[in-house]
Amino acid sequence: MKDKRVLVTGGTRGIGRATVLAFARGGARVVTCHRGDGDEELAGHDVHVVTADVTRPDDAGRLIAECERHLGGLDVVVNNVGRDGQAAVEDLSAGEWHSMLDTGLTSAYLVTQAALRLLGPGASIVNFGASAATRGIPQRAHYTAAKAGVTGLTRSLAKELGPRGVRVNAIAPGLIDTGDELPPHIRERVSGLTSLGRLGTPDEVADVVLFLTGEPSRYISGVTLPVDGGI
Ligand SMILES: NC(=O)c1ccc[n+]([C@@H]2O[C@H](COP(=O)([O-])OP(=O)(O)OC[C@H]3O[C@@H](n4cnc5c(N)ncnc54)[C@H](OP(=O)(O)O)[C@@H]3O)[C@@H](O)[C@H]2O)c1
Repeated sequence: MKDKRVLVTGGTRGIGRATVLAFARGGARVVTCHRGDGDEELAGHDVHVVTADVTRPDDAGRLIAECERHLGGLDVVVNNVGRDGQAAVEDLSAGEWHSMLDTGLTSAYLVTQAALRLLGPGASIVNFGASAATRGIPQRAHYTAAKAGVTGLTRSLAKELGPRGVRVNAIAPGLIDTGDELPPHIRERVSGLTSLGRLGTPDEVADVVLFLTGEPSRYISGVTLPVDGGI
């Protein structure tokens, strides 16, 4: 991992932050982004934080230009940005539908497309789906549609970019304890659905990102790997 040039989108909180720190600890050179201004905690690490909204094509292009300027190229792109949302289908507005797809799916396409010119043989892309996308959840039609779309995007890009030596995989997390206030009954119910009887941690997802972008996974491309404790 030493000196690997890495972009993780949305690396200032939760799983993205754990992934950024895992790469940085291993000696990688990391760029991340979020929509806010700066990030004091990440500033203590060798991480370059860019303000960019990756649902916007211009921002995605500017982010990749910043990666080129700061790193000189890219070996790894982690399309971590995504968000949750809940709405009964009769209340789900077209605006919220599009916003969810923009954040959870279109952002990965925009960043990948902009990054292509910097990715050479041996490079690796990891997208973020969700374990729930294949099972479905009431009141999350928009969320699961976006996340199921990530699986199709991943499989097609793996076939399209494989001949260039670029691997494309996805991770499908279950419920991960990112420190957000989770109602105790949800925590208990979802923990009970897992084979391991607990929620996952951001570090446990970050470790799988490291595996999927590293040498031990060199013959894996096009998969969506559940990291969900066996739901
Ligand atoms: N946590 C879970 O249980 C879980 C389960 C299944 C799948 N996932 C997936 O795993 C990924 C990470 O989840 P998480 O819970 O760690 O997320 P999170 O805590 O909400 O963090 C999201 C990160 O992305 C940034 N961000 C959000 N929208 C952005 C945009 N349009 N442009 C640039 N940055 C943006 C946020 O910063 P700003 O707000 O400052 O922009 C933040 O740094 C997501 O794709 C999520 O859907 C999570």
